[in-house]
Order: sequence, then C-alpha cells, then structure tokens
Amino acid sequence: MSSPAINGAKAKEVFELLRDDLEAVEREFGRDTVSSVPAITDIGEHLRAGGGKRIRPALLLLSAKLFDYSGRGAIRLGAVVEMIHTATLVHDDIIDEARTRRGRPAANTRWGNSKCVLAGDWLYMQSFKIAVQERNFRILDVLIDLTQQMVEGELLQMEKLGRSITLDEHFDLIHRKTACLFSTCTRLGAIVSGAPPDNEEKLARYGRSLGMAFQLVDDVLDLTASEDVLGKPVASDLREGKATMAVIHALAQCAPEEKALIQKVLDERAFKSVTHDQILAVLNRYGSLDAATTRAYEYAADARSAICDLPDSEIMRALLWAPEFVVAREK
Ligand code: IPE
Ligand code: IPE
Ligand code: MG
Ligand code: MG
Repeated sequence: MSSPAINGAKAKEVFELLRDDLEAVEREFGRDTVSSVPAITDIGEHLRAGGGKRIRPALLLLSAKLFDYSGRGAIRLGAVVEMIHTATLVHDDIIDEARTRRGRPAANTRWGNSKCVLAGDWLYMQSFKIAVQERNFRILDVLIDLTQQMVEGELLQMEKLGRSITLDEHFDLIHRKTACLFSTCTRLGAIVSGAPPDNEEKLARYGRSLGMAFQLVDDVLDLTASEDVLGKPVASDLREGKATMAVIHALAQCAPEEKALIQKVLDERAFKSVTHDQILAVLNRYGSLDAATTRAYEYAADARSAICDLPDSEIMRALLWAPEFVVAREK
C-alpha cells in the first residue's frame, strides 16, 4: 500500500494531466445547472461549490483520452456524469436524513426535502438534455440503464434495512448504487472516442471493479473515519439500518451476544444502548474491517487486470494508478 503522501503526490500529477479538461467540465456543469427557478440553481451551486473529488468526470476523461479523443463531447459527458452523481447525492441525503455533505450542511437541511426531491429530478433531466447533444442513442441507452439501476439499488437497499443480508445481496446493492456509475463513466469515455467494442468492454469492467472497491472503502470509512475528514456523517450506515461488508463478515462468525449487539443498533437505528466503540471492538476481533479492505484491494486488482493488455501511455499509467488511489484514500 502506498502512503497517503505518495498517493497525494500522484493524485496531483493525474489531476494536473486533466486540469484544463476538469476546469472545462466545471464550467459546463455551472452553465448547465442554471434554471429560472432560483431554488434549483442554488441547490446545484451549493453542491458544486462544496467541492467533491470529481473522480467520475476524471475517469470519463481518462478513458476518452486513452483512445486519443480530444473533442468537446467528453467535457459535456463529464458534466453529465457529475450532474447525475449530484442528483443521487441530493436524493441520498434525503433518504439517509444526512445533515452534512462535502463539509457543509446537506442541501435537505437548508432547502427541505420537498424542494430537494424536485431539484434532484431536475438535475437528472438536465443531465439527459446535455447528453442528447451527442446525438448518440447508445449513450442515452447506457445513461437510462444506469439511472434505473441506481434507483433500483436505493429501493432494494430500503427493503433490506435493519436486516442482515448475504454478501451476494450486498454486492448486488453496491454494484447498482455505485459501481454502475463508475462503469458508465469509463464506458462513455470509450464510446465517445469510438473505441472498438472489446476495448469498451475492458474499460467498462475496469470501471465496475473500481466502483465496487470505491463503495467497499466508503463503507469502511463510514465505520472508521472522522466527520471532519470525510465531510459527511460517520457511523451512519448502521444508524440507517445498513449492514455493510465488515458487519456482514462479523455477523457470520461472532458469538450470539455479539450478534445481539449489532442487531440492537440495526433495530434501534441509533447508538443508544450499544456504543460505536463496542461495535468496532467486535469488528476488529473478527478482522472484519480488514476483510472488507482486502476485498476492496481484490476489486482494485481486477480493475487493473481488466485493462493491463492495452498499450502503455501516460494516460494508461494514470488509469492503472487510480485503483490504488481509491483504496488508499482517506476521504
Ligand atoms: C459519494 O461519492 C457517494 C458514494 C458513492 C459513496 P464520492 O465520495 O465520490 O463523493 P464526492 O463527489 O467526492 O463528494
Ligand atoms: C452511496 O451510498 C450511494 C449513492 C448513490 C449516493 P452511501 O449512502 O454510502 O453514500 P454516502 O456515504 O452518503 O456518500
Ligand atoms: Mg448516504
Ligand atoms: Mg457511505
């Protein structure tokens, strides 16, 4: 594992490589999220100005550049995927009753749920409006599939709240809610640059595995990180009744009284009679956080192997490094 400092230095290098394009995506996003209804513009701007890693547009740009694309389409599509991501965050924070996002008050705490639902819907539609400019049915097809998968993922997750689910069910959920969007980003990069179908599939598999690793790490950070670093609530998954991989791993082997501790938090939807530290102690006793991290590393390795036979280049090296960034990140 590389140290956060090395990870940071390399991240700068990759973002430097993409700087002009990411700035163009930022401008495109800003132009695209203006509505005559101020609440919509304000909510979009609140999220945009809050920052965020912009990892999805970065992946789309890298995938397009890998096939020597240099047109305007990748910029527009970079804004499209960040807009879709923003819409899901707005909706997700309503569903999860989150108070913070990107180190700021979550939009729902400022504008209320009703306005945020509608602003999220508007953002989805606006993203499709921009995507239509490519005049490419495949792109629309991919984006529609993606949006349905993500909504289905959130709905399925709701149906499973408070229950301990199987690992297979869990992987299906994180595939839908996160990996699909990552896979769409890398696939769109390939499509917009006219890459041959076999290379498009390699990039799509790369994105999918990278996204699985990304969500596994997000779920570990939810249990171990601080809100200051993360910029969003921590220890929230259990409070929302969500059993993520480390918890599922511990439940499969811990003692009945330890199982009861975890179930208590899932039932109470709060750390009331059981503390966060008590849960961490159980997870550490069974190596469950390590098991989830190890699985993230396996997905990261699969992402790399999906594209390893493509020719070497500066862009290729950035793509081969991204899985390391995703698993070693601290926020
Ligand atoms: C948060 O995504 C939602 C998940 C899929 C876990 P990011 O961690 O990419 O959020 P930002 O865009 O950097 O804020
Ligand atoms: C992320 O799930 C899925 C989305 C599509 C937003 P989470 O609920 O874990 O995301 P965070 O932790 O709130 O960013
Ligand atoms: Mg959430
Ligand atoms: Mg999370």
